Amino acid sequence: MTAEPASARGLARRFARDWLAPQWRWLALGVVFSALTAAAAYGYAEITTRAVDWLKDGDPRVFTIAPAAILALVLLRSSALFWQTQANNIGVQRALIHLQHRLFEKLISGDFSRLQAAASGAYVSRFSNDVQLIREASLRVATNLARSSLTVAACVLFMLLKDWPLALLLIVVYPVAFWPVVRLGDRIRRTSRVAQEQAGELSSFLTEAFQGARTVKAYSLEGRQIDRARSAFEERARLYLRILRSKALVDPFLEVMGGVALAGLFAFAGWRALAGEASVGEVIGFITAIGVASPEVRALGTLNSVLNEGVAAADRVYQELDQPSRVVDRPGAQTNFRSSGLVEADQVVFSYPGGAERSSSVLNGFTFRAEPGAVTALVGPSGSGKSTVFNLLLRLYDADAGQFRLDGVDLRNLSLSSLRGCFALVSQDAFLFEGTIRDNILLGRPGASSDDVLRVAREAACHFIDEAPLGLETPVGEGGRNLSGGQRQRVALARALLSEAPILLLDEATSALDSESEALVQDALARVAGRRTIIVVAHRLATVRAADRIFVLSSGRVVESGRHEELIALGGRYAELASGQLT
Ligand SMILES: Nc1ncnc2c1ncn2[C@@H]1O[C@H](COP(=O)(O)OP(=O)(O)O)[C@@H](O)[C@H]1O
Ligand SMILES: [Mg+2]
Repeated sequence: MTAEPASARGLARRFARDWLAPQWRWLALGVVFSALTAAAAYGYAEITTRAVDWLKDGDPRVFTIAPAAILALVLLRSSALFWQTQANNIGVQRALIHLQHRLFEKLISGDFSRLQAAASGAYVSRFSNDVQLIREASLRVATNLARSSLTVAACVLFMLLKDWPLALLLIVVYPVAFWPVVRLGDRIRRTSRVAQEQAGELSSFLTEAFQGARTVKAYSLEGRQIDRARSAFEERARLYLRILRSKALVDPFLEVMGGVALAGLFAFAGWRALAGEASVGEVIGFITAIGVASPEVRALGTLNSVLNEGVAAADRVYQELDQPSRVVDRPGAQTNFRSSGLVEADQVVFSYPGGAERSSSVLNGFTFRAEPGAVTALVGPSGSGKSTVFNLLLRLYDADAGQFRLDGVDLRNLSLSSLRGCFALVSQDAFLFEGTIRDNILLGRPGASSDDVLRVAREAACHFIDEAPLGLETPVGEGGRNLSGGQRQRVALARALLSEAPILLLDEATSALDSESEALVQDALARVAGRRTIIVVAHRLATVRAADRIFVLSSGRVVESGRHEELIALGGRYAELASGQLT
């Protein structure tokens, strides 16, 4: 999981340069406050030493200067700690906002095939888990590199100046004694990671269980789901117990160590003090210095593994960021292209990326022509490549061989945005975004007038709007789930009609409509035809029989074409499909 040390360092450096360096002002401010906290730590040890010696000598400064100095140091150190943390938080947070923004932009504008390939959960995890790991690592580096090391350095300096043999002894013994605590910390975090992943699985299981409630009920799957849930809950509880057990060990362990350290210190330092080589104040000063330095040493001890996790996460993020897009604008691509609506395909061959195990291509010499203003239909058995043709027309993928042309121009010579501006797609799933019906229709042409929205809604047979109390302002719910499949299709159709794209692509766009609504939609399309090119994919022959030209697809190739009557008379594939639907 973790990269090689050398490349891990390279990655950390790259990350720092790309994202943290622009925030150097905040991070530098953090270093300034870190230096103040370290200075205050030194001051603590110093004032403690003096106060104890004053006390021993009966010096009245012990109740004037000492309390005042301690209060001043507390004030300094606590406010410096706060501002140091804040400066780092702000710097790192800003860096991560830029990173998330860049990552989202890259993914959403990158290749469609990539977005399709991974389970969407993988991308969600880039934004939640990975960003969280990077945040922790960045904060820890920002904090520990400055504050912890400066504080430890100040405490060590104090001890060396006061009593160097004792200081050297501590510097050797201390890390050895601390090692088990550091290991324990590592174990807790590793278990936490597993628990975190398992929490992700649990939440996707729960989401699925509740979203699929209809199927669960209909097939009486409650028992099966309850069993699956029970084992997920038990697994989670088991992991939690492991984490809690490790955590429960930390405090007793620290207690023991603190006691041993105190005992050792008194033994050694007390002996030196009695021998006249150290003052009582110095012994107390040492204890203070160790107390201040301890949490910082602990933090430094676990820094490496936090950093490794952050680097592994940054590696995953960079893999997304570094991925080049394949479907891009060619240099010199035409940007202000307006199509008259002539669409042609010429000997197109295409296989889906990663679908290499298939023996034949999805499209195999696909050739067709849709005349401007005409209604052209693609029919064929499911899996014959009809939706694939639309994917290639929109350049969600590029053809392996052959070409698609708009008004005689190869699609790849047009910029992606001007190409996609030529098409309005209504797909079978008719995806709607959370918002109102009006919001969704307006996506076809933002800024269209209310009258236009109402007109296209009517044309797309959205009469259900008139019956809803909120009308066009009815919220569609997440993904449009408040609407039925047929209602969603009609809203999607209205959206397409509102757009001024010269070519309408309808992919099983009326498959969920009742025959009455479909007849209305057909009328609307008949009115649109003549002004726009319409290419329809449909299973139901009722939808395509009026088309100006029908292309019959089989295994990614056009096997016959003509008008409905001609194809029936031909007695081939189309006639076969038609007779299947009539009986
Ligand atoms: N994203 C994809 N990745 C790999 N194969 C795909 C993908 N989409 C479709 N296919 C395959 O391509 C073939 C044609 O699919 P499609 O064009 O959707 O058929 P149709 O729309 O005619 O039912 C099918 O065999 C399908 O399994
Ligand atoms: Mg399809």
